[in-house]
Amino acid sequence: LLVLALFVLPLQAAGTIKIGGIFPITGPIATFGISCANGAKMAVEEANARGGVLGSKIELIIEDDQYKLEEAANAAKKLIERDKVVAIVGGVTSSEALTIGPIAQSAKVVLVTGTATNPKVTQVGDFIFRVCFLDDFQGEVMANFAYKNLKAKTAAVLTAVTSDYSKGLADSFKKKYVALGGKIVADESYSEGDTDFRAQLTKIKASKPDFVFVPGYYSDVAPILNQARELGITVPFGGGDGWDSPELLKQAAKAAEGCFYTNHFTPDAKDLLVQTFVKNYTKKYGMAPDALAALKYDAMKFLLEGIKKAGTTDPVKIKEALASMKTFRGVTGSMTFDANRNAIKSAFILQIKGGKVVYYTTVKP
Ligand code: PHE
Repeated sequence: LLVLALFVLPLQAAGTIKIGGIFPITGPIATFGISCANGAKMAVEEANARGGVLGSKIELIIEDDQYKLEEAANAAKKLIERDKVVAIVGGVTSSEALTIGPIAQSAKVVLVTGTATNPKVTQVGDFIFRVCFLDDFQGEVMANFAYKNLKAKTAAVLTAVTSDYSKGLADSFKKKYVALGGKIVADESYSEGDTDFRAQLTKIKASKPDFVFVPGYYSDVAPILNQARELGITVPFGGGDGWDSPELLKQAAKAAEGCFYTNHFTPDAKDLLVQTFVKNYTKKYGMAPDALAALKYDAMKFLLEGIKKAGTTDPVKIKEALASMKTFRGVTGSMTFDANRNAIKSAFILQIKGGKVVYYTTVKP
């Protein structure tokens, strides 16, 4: 009995369900990490205020990977081996998720990403889930929009070759755009963190495109847009969710005017669930939530529902419970899940207009 007590006591004394969070809170895409941490924290605080899950409080242990893949791997190992988390929420970018995923999968720890959209992310294994749409869909949405709505018959693409996200999204856009009858007249690339894009933009300008697709993150997109306008490229640019940062408008509002991007969330949605989230988030953090905050809020709620459903913190049982959830209603919309643990849901097209991001339209899957 004493031996048993010794084993049981430390577990009970801990009394919490530990969940890890890995986000790029500092570094080049820090607004992504900060928003994700805020969204995940808010979901945990709300759950704890209602008494926690399975009678235990949730303890969220957040690691900052600085958008460095070695740091992301170290954080995953630390959370799993030292902190003994039952699940991780994170992998903000696809490259981070593709780094953390194999570590979680081989340790049999659940990974739920709210934001990583590259198709390969969930192919890593059955412990990996996501609550966002995929780049296959997002790329097609923008290709359709450029070709049909903007009537762009030719397009140029500028891809970040260092990013799994950017490469996948560029491919998806090009494939659909060409299938529709559009012509890719320039296909240029850069490395994340580059500061001078004039050589690529000069080639793009010479190709006289009707539209320029830049599937990058805001940290690169802002200087790209500024330099493009300086070089006299006046056509609309478009992008994906990676444009979603208040920094884009701070750094390049004028250059971004009239541009469009696809996203997972709009605070303008009339839905009561969304409005309550926007109100509570804004009160707590002093700014409106962006897509990353909303997606990590949804990711955490999805995970907590899975734990509740499993009735235990055994990660294998949590995985099975999550896999059995065929629908979920979040602040980023209603979604269903396919057999590969991918969310199927609508995308929003947003426009930069009057120096602000405004809702333009919704595209159903
Ligand atoms: N989808 C991006 C990726 O996979 C991450 C992201 C999500 C960025 C949502 C902004 C908003 O890398």
